[in-house]
Amino acid sequence: MWKSMLTALALCTSSFASSPLADFALQKVLEDAAPIFGPYAHRSGNRSQWMKHYPDDTLLVHMNIPGTHDSATWNYTQASQDALKGITDLTQVTVPVPETFRCQQLSLINMLDMGIRAFDLRYAYDPTNTTLIFYHSKALLSEIATVDDVLFGFYQWLDDHPSETVFLSLQYESSTSAYASNDATLQLLLHNILTSPAARQYFIQNKDTLGKLGDARGKINLLRRFDLDKIPQSYTDALPGLHFSPRLWTDNGRDIELVYNAADNLTAYIEDYYQPLTPMGSDAKENIRWKYNATVKHIHKATKEHPDSLFWTFASATNTPNEPPIWPRIMALGNGTEYTPVGGVNQFLVPFLRGQKGKRVGIVMFDFFDQSSELIDTFLEL
Ligand SMILES: *[C@@H]1O[C@H](CO)[C@@H](O)[C@H](O)[C@H]1NC(C)=O
Ligand SMILES: *[C@@H]1O[C@H](CO)[C@@H](O)[C@H](O)[C@H]1NC(C)=O
Ligand SMILES: *[C@@H]1O[C@H](CO)[C@@H](O)[C@H](O)[C@H]1NC(C)=O
Ligand SMILES: *[C@@H]1O[C@H](CO)[C@@H](O)[C@H](O)[C@H]1NC(C)=O
Ligand SMILES: *[C@@H]1O[C@H](CO)[C@@H](O)[C@H](O)[C@H]1NC(C)=O
Ligand SMILES: *[C@@H]1O[C@H](CO)[C@@H](O)[C@H](O)[C@H]1NC(C)=O
Repeated sequence: MWKSMLTALALCTSSFASSPLADFALQKVLEDAAPIFGPYAHRSGNRSQWMKHYPDDTLLVHMNIPGTHDSATWNYTQASQDALKGITDLTQVTVPVPETFRCQQLSLINMLDMGIRAFDLRYAYDPTNTTLIFYHSKALLSEIATVDDVLFGFYQWLDDHPSETVFLSLQYESSTSAYASNDATLQLLLHNILTSPAARQYFIQNKDTLGKLGDARGKINLLRRFDLDKIPQSYTDALPGLHFSPRLWTDNGRDIELVYNAADNLTAYIEDYYQPLTPMGSDAKENIRWKYNATVKHIHKATKEHPDSLFWTFASATNTPNEPPIWPRIMALGNGTEYTPVGGVNQFLVPFLRGQKGKRVGIVMFDFFDQSSELIDTFLEL
């Protein structure tokens, strides 16, 4: 659709009947997006259009939505960290080993094609305070792919899959460097990206409420995990989506109740227990058990309580301060030894999820979701 908008624009601004320039411009943006979105390719497959099977009048809060936590980290290897060192050196950041930050290994477009519909994206300034790019804490994930570029990847994918709807969580990442700043200029930049003509076309313009699938197909539901507190309120008023203020999001919360619409008393129920409070020196198995426990408890609640409210569960976790450090991969999949014979949280969740067939579990965010082959199919068959 945005392709045809560009073509329309080309028609307005020139007398040519059509212009290959619009196609070249699209190619250029998608190539710039590739380090985060992944190289664009149109594939078909049943998981890439699973929402086709749900009626238009399905309430989004009643759906089971598989998501990924820290989605943009999928290519954060040692090679990527080394390749970006010249840039992270500019802000004098010493970045710990890549395993600390890597939570995924499939690109965003591959995730979309595999059925993932909720994405956790963390933005901040690039080291020159000019563009908004993606980070996981200190880890700069690409200097090329901007937030705007990556959104065009989603727009194109939705044009190619008009039955689907996507949830994008955008969060300001604060600990990218000693000089990082969430200043008025940055907030204005984000506001401008999210109110551009393309964004107005592709983001559902509902505010503080989630509607029905039929109205959301081909579009993005914005989950605003940021505050625009350095610029006038009118900028916030212009944004669509649901607001999850970082001030209300309890750190490491097992059972967060976050009111995102005070007028209608709409509450989201969130589990974001990302660092199990195990005793120092606890092993991988123990950490996995604690996280699995919190995840299952929250999913159980989603199946039983507040049927018309939004549930958002993070199955992802890490415990890097622990000795030995428990990286996201170990938490999700186990540490690959006899100490974790079953695997990690993901493997434990498969039989649990099989037992929830027919029930509402809500949005669930995973790390390394594709590494236990049964997880996504089990989830989509709920
Ligand atoms: C992934 O990272 C490697 C190593 O930095 C790089 O060569 C490759 O181009 C990256 N992939 C994409 C799609 O950007
Ligand atoms: C996709 O097709 C495979 C093979 O036929 C099947 O096992 C799977 O359940 C299907 N998934 C969805 C989401 O329809
Ligand atoms: C970016 O902004 C921060 C905070 O204002 C400042 O400390 C830093 O020097 C700026 N960096 C550049 C390259 O201008
Ligand atoms: C808001 O909703 C919560 C949970 O559904 C309920 O406990 C509370 O009483 C409601 N408050 C008002 C003012 O309606
Ligand atoms: C796996 O975890 C056990 C228990 O914490 C630990 O002794 C072992 O060194 C770990 N192995 C790897 C490869 O991480
Ligand atoms: C599981 O969680 C409950 C409460 O949330 C707690 O009482 C129990 O000790 C936990 N068990 C483990 C193994 O973490």
